[in-house]
Amino acid sequence: MSRQWTLNALAQLERDAQRSSDTHLLMIELPGAPGISLYLKDESTHPTGSLKHRLARSLFFYGICNGLIQEGTPIVEASSGSTAVSEAYFARMLGLPFYAVMPRSTSPAKVAQIAFYDGFCHFVDRPAEVYTEAERLAQRLRGHYMDQFTYAERATDWRGNNNIAESIFEQMAAEPCPVPRWIVVGAGTGGTSATIGRYIRYKGFDTALAVADPSQSVFTAYHATRDATLTSPHGSEIEGIGRPRVEPSFVPDVIDRMITVPTAESLAAMRYLSQVLGRRYGGSTGTNFYGALQLACEMRARGEQGSIVTLACDGGERYLSSYYNDDWLQTQGHHLDAALATVDTAFREGHWKPAAQAKAPEPALAA
Ligand SMILES: Cc1ncc(COP(=O)(O)O)c(C=O)c1O
Repeated sequence: MSRQWTLNALAQLERDAQRSSDTHLLMIELPGAPGISLYLKDESTHPTGSLKHRLARSLFFYGICNGLIQEGTPIVEASSGSTAVSEAYFARMLGLPFYAVMPRSTSPAKVAQIAFYDGFCHFVDRPAEVYTEAERLAQRLRGHYMDQFTYAERATDWRGNNNIAESIFEQMAAEPCPVPRWIVVGAGTGGTSATIGRYIRYKGFDTALAVADPSQSVFTAYHATRDATLTSPHGSEIEGIGRPRVEPSFVPDVIDRMITVPTAESLAAMRYLSQVLGRRYGGSTGTNFYGALQLACEMRARGEQGSIVTLACDGGERYLSSYYNDDWLQTQGHHLDAALATVDTAFREGHWKPAAQAKAPEPALAA
């Protein structure tokens, strides 16, 4: 094992962090809720286009410092795309071969981006197969399985070190309501919500954390029952968030509220936000925006003032052939009109009149 390679690799990761400036915090006026300010932490501006740039860098630090990644080690990941895009970028930087195991339904744009960073894509037919297939491939290649679902909550320094939470609170410091009443995020691995929930407690902020969860996901039921054996027959229709099984990096005890968001509502909110900001974002950003609007309307109804922060997780360019394509929506049977009306009324009037009463799926108890 070449200690010199390890030192060089760590120096390269540090230099990448040094070259990267922090992502922006955008302010969104809510015409219907004066006195409530909404902020969007725009993680789509990272070099690899999503919030996963932070996690990928942390997972490489974790793997190298644990001696699991060495010169020439093949890197394998189970990912719906965003993490694989970011990991492929760092693997190429370190001269390591990279393999992404993903569902065959992953957007072609993400597949192309992984190939752009010289990564190899390894497809499985059923989303639930990604874990065992990634493990098997890593063994066959004598490589390292990064396993974001297990290590996301462990590899990220939740006490600081410029993690996403520290960045949000620093950027809010000069705002009229610097301590947000709510932070709203989605959960795929659960790493982002774990980092933010822990940081809020560690720093003693009077901020509540809400997770906006797609309706096919098991996280909402797990948060309510703490039954880690829960599974859901269907994967989430929103890339990157919502899971068919309980993931090890999802930490329910630091989450104050779960908000279930149906697919049409996520996509309607995604499109609406892109109109408001004049820039396209991905589906999980729509899920977050929908959750944040619901909380803003509830605060307004209670006569509360304050700020809410949510996340833009990735750019919309990756979904031009799916979420932003009307023909694709039709073939998938997604009708957005009612959901668009809900979002518009919430945004312009501050009233919460949801078209669909979002309810979590009846997860199947494991045999
Ligand atoms: C686009 C997108 N949004 C949100 C998330 C959720 O982030 P986390 O895995 O930290 O829960 C992911 C995770 O892969 C993602 O790809």
